Amino acid sequence: MKIITVESLTRLIARHGYDKFLLDLMHGLKKDFGRWEVFTQMPRPAMHVPGGVLELMPVCDNEKYYSFKYVNCHPKNTLSGNLTVVATGQLVDVATGYPLMFCEMTILTALRTAAMSALATDMMSRKESKTLAIIGTGAQAEFQLSAISLVRKIKEVRFFDLDGKAMDKFEENVKNKSLNLRRCASAEEAVNGADIITVCTAKKARVAVVKDKWIQKGVHINALGGDTIGKTELERSTLFRSRIAVEYFAQAYIEGEIQRFSKKEALQNVTCEFFEIINGLKKGRESKDEITLFDSVGIALEDYSALRLTYELSRKYNIGENFKMVPELSDPKDLISLLL
Ligand SMILES: NC(=O)c1ccc[n+]([C@@H]2O[C@H](COP(=O)([O-])OP(=O)(O)OC[C@H]3O[C@@H](n4cnc5c(N)ncnc54)[C@H](O)[C@@H]3O)[C@@H](O)[C@H]2O)c1
Repeated sequence: MKIITVESLTRLIARHGYDKFLLDLMHGLKKDFGRWEVFTQMPRPAMHVPGGVLELMPVCDNEKYYSFKYVNCHPKNTLSGNLTVVATGQLVDVATGYPLMFCEMTILTALRTAAMSALATDMMSRKESKTLAIIGTGAQAEFQLSAISLVRKIKEVRFFDLDGKAMDKFEENVKNKSLNLRRCASAEEAVNGADIITVCTAKKARVAVVKDKWIQKGVHINALGGDTIGKTELERSTLFRSRIAVEYFAQAYIEGEIQRFSKKEALQNVTCEFFEIINGLKKGRESKDEITLFDSVGIALEDYSALRLTYELSRKYNIGENFKMVPELSDPKDLISLLL
């Protein structure tokens, strides 16, 4: 079984190229969303504990691979020097049920979440969009900027976080990009006049991080932080004004911004699941004045695409270590022989 540690993954990405990894991941995601019907999926089971949530995310293509990810969200972790979101995942051979790879997925989650935002931005935002607002400059923020910059010619980035140190960190990490960087004093200042807004804050509560009255016509919003029960970032009124795409309705209705809707309101106001846009069944945007909203919660299929790409590249570059995690026996019925 191949083990991909944090060190192996960073080496793999350095070897392949960061932007190329994001582009290949976007390509893989597009391909996998395009064959939506082949997958066995389920809304992720979530266990809510004091201070956070623990989630398991399984999916199966019924042909080649099954995968699952374990992920958490503990918004107060950073106060004690820990990440808010950490994850690990596994890729399994469908034919035998044998595990193929165990992988770090904290970085991989940030990459696949950014690649999904970029795909949604590409299909839903106005082509001429050039100003990006990022609200919440924690662990996900730079990844979002990198991926969105691959699909739109971003000239200006306005950013805001309640934590000044998180803003310093973001500024330092992106200062070499040829961008007009605008450090804002409020979320209102950041979103005023922006073409694209990515909201990625962390608080287990219903917070109006971006107020409805600040949201102008024609804007595209990637809303990432509303991703579990009782955790949202937008006002209900914004949802009624927006053309909404969700990844997977059954999960988004439990966890996304659309949890604020009644079932009837959700069925009336959610335009589509994202695969419908990919497959040309629905449009991402119909007019330049429309407000479009990608209500992202993160689904297992996205982790499957990320794990498959990582597995393929780990074989290509011979990166990662092999450990015997499953017994090898001359007689598969003689398991006890290993202990005798
Ligand atoms: N949709 C997905 O697929 C997906 C994937 C990964 C993470 N997420 C979510 O994205 C969010 C961000 O994750 P992260 O790893 O960057 O967390 P993080 O803790 O590293 O960063 C979050 C930042 O938000 C800031 N913040 C909190 N409330 C704010 C507010 N009202 N206004 C401005 N800033 C505020 C915090 O100060 C912090 O710097 C989390 O809620 C996480 O659950 C979603």
